[in-house]
Amino acid sequence: MGNRNSRYATTKAVLIVSMSFMMLVILHTNYNTDFTHYTDSNIETTPLHGNDQPPVSKPETTTTNTSTTTSATPTPTSTPTSAPVSPPKIPISPKEPIKTNKPSDSSDPLNIIYDSELSTVIQYDNGTQSRIFKPAFFKNPKAAKKELGSFMETLATKSWLVQELLAELDNEENNNQEGGDDDDEEEEEEEEDDDHDRKVSLNAVASSGRYFAYLPMGGGNNQFTSLEKAAILAKDLNRTLLLPPISPNSHIRVWAGPRYSEFYDLDTFVAKSGIPVVEWHDVKQAPESVPEGFSHHWEEFSEALPCIPNGGIGSGKSKLYDKFRQQFLLKFEPVIIPADRTKGKATDFRFARDILLKDTPTTTPTTQGEVDPNMWKCLTCPYFLGGDELNGRVWSEVGVHLRFNDKTEAMADDILDILLGPIDDDANNKKKPFRPHPEFIIVHLRRGDITTKCPVGVDEKDCIVQIEAIADKVDAIEKERRIAALKEHKKEKNGDESEFVHKRLPVLVATNEKREEELEKIETLGWILLDHGDEERDGKGNIIPSKTKKLGTESKLGPWVPPMLDAVLLTRGNYLIGMANSRMSILGTQRGKAWHGHHTVLM
Ligand SMILES: *[C@@H]1O[C@H](CO)[C@@H](O)[C@H](O)[C@H]1NC(C)=O
Ligand SMILES: *[C@@H]1O[C@H](CO)[C@@H](O)[C@H](O)[C@H]1NC(C)=O
Ligand SMILES: *[C@@H]1O[C@H](CO)[C@@H](O)[C@H](O)[C@H]1NC(C)=O
Repeated sequence: MGNRNSRYATTKAVLIVSMSFMMLVILHTNYNTDFTHYTDSNIETTPLHGNDQPPVSKPETTTTNTSTTTSATPTPTSTPTSAPVSPPKIPISPKEPIKTNKPSDSSDPLNIIYDSELSTVIQYDNGTQSRIFKPAFFKNPKAAKKELGSFMETLATKSWLVQELLAELDNEENNNQEGGDDDDEEEEEEEEDDDHDRKVSLNAVASSGRYFAYLPMGGGNNQFTSLEKAAILAKDLNRTLLLPPISPNSHIRVWAGPRYSEFYDLDTFVAKSGIPVVEWHDVKQAPESVPEGFSHHWEEFSEALPCIPNGGIGSGKSKLYDKFRQQFLLKFEPVIIPADRTKGKATDFRFARDILLKDTPTTTPTTQGEVDPNMWKCLTCPYFLGGDELNGRVWSEVGVHLRFNDKTEAMADDILDILLGPIDDDANNKKKPFRPHPEFIIVHLRRGDITTKCPVGVDEKDCIVQIEAIADKVDAIEKERRIAALKEHKKEKNGDESEFVHKRLPVLVATNEKREEELEKIETLGWILLDHGDEERDGKGNIIPSKTKKLGTESKLGPWVPPMLDAVLLTRGNYLIGMANSRMSILGTQRGKAWHGHHTVLM
């Protein structure tokens, strides 16, 4: 039976892969039909331009990896079940056929596979595709909209493929049940080593080609909370989560935000959480940055984004607090559900879920050319959903599985190399996902707007945790460490403690504190400030000496990276002291404990 299941699974994967590939050939290339894919390798690294100062001289590109999952494509001899499937017809009006300027098997690293007056799609040797938006694109909203295609149509195509696939599989399964399958066993063994792609494909099938989308709201931490809650909803609804990028906000004022997969390991997340995910970047390719003046016109270029308001967000005239719609050229369209007696203000998780669960009744099964009327569900603001059930689930079912990818962990390693120095630790290195460093304590000193949030009449030192109190906590940690180390020492030296020397751990501080007197306290304590800024130079070009080590993270890697690396480093400290009123601290303590077994405390 196990063999049958694995064979069944393999068949699904094979079918998905081959169908994706065929759709690729058929469809306009800006549809990335490979719904198994979200590696971070194809992220555009073009520097982002600020909203406020966005002159862009060169056309911008967006990249999509449209290569099929070749790793999951078995050789013909091992796949008796991969009989050619007739190419599916496209359920909705297809775009114009690909205009090929060059033979596709050309060894030229730059294949132009589509070219119009508005944009050019190029494909690199390695399969990555980029769309370059020409200046004309930004001048003609109507033509631009046509050029971009519709995300809804893209999803409909994907959805239809999955439906079709499920029907195929049913037939397949029935046939297999009838015929003998003894002689396939060896081949099945070869297929056992299923990789991520395959699991991801199966998860996509599990959601039956239905999607759940949401709007990210506010700063990075709020957006992360929204993601967690939306993922729980997607799970309960058996839908694929359509994941927006980490969106620009009042702290990071640029046009476009990066994919989550640039920093997080989404493949593993899908495999472990069982929640299928597709990123907006794979559904709609929009310009990563825009010429000056465009931002006033973005709505003219946008297509409708139907979404059910909740928490009062999007009902009436209230703001949506996101820049995501602008990035993907989407015009919010409130969908008021008659059954929603709160009229778009619901904040109760179960109630919102019940609203989302109410499907439009369908009499006939979805046939070719017909779009599942329940394919699309969207809720404006999962952030505001609450209730004990939800709050208990976001960490255990989502947060714990959403880990940083290797690239991001490696960037954190680079910082630790600079601040603490690497250590030789070959034995431990093999066990750990990241490079070995000396043990350290990390303090997350969340300041800034929190200091302005003290209630009226309450003194700041009674309202936010003071550095002196944190220093006491560090001392308490050191006392415990000292006792443990001394015990160990005496055991080794037969009770002799004369040579015992206690070495305190280095203390790293991640903070947004700007006040000079507070920073001086940190310096006096000998703690190491994580300073992502650049070296400053005087009029003569000489480097101005700084009390902190200037990491230059932001200028080297862009505005999204410093807060992300701080979040990674919180998980890396063998001891983490966080602030109880900070979401980022709380998340850091959960992660450090669960992922690395670190000691964490909130103050
Ligand atoms: C593919 O090639 C392009 C152009 O050289 C490059 O920018 C991109 O990073 C490559 N992708 C991978 C996964 O190697
Ligand atoms: C594209 O995706 C495939 C499968 O996920 C992967 O093997 C390949 O390396 C990727 N290529 C690029 C350029 O990202
Ligand atoms: C989701 O799928 C599970 C397992 O197939 C099923 O038990 C459950 O009823 C489904 N829920 C919805 C809302 O479709």
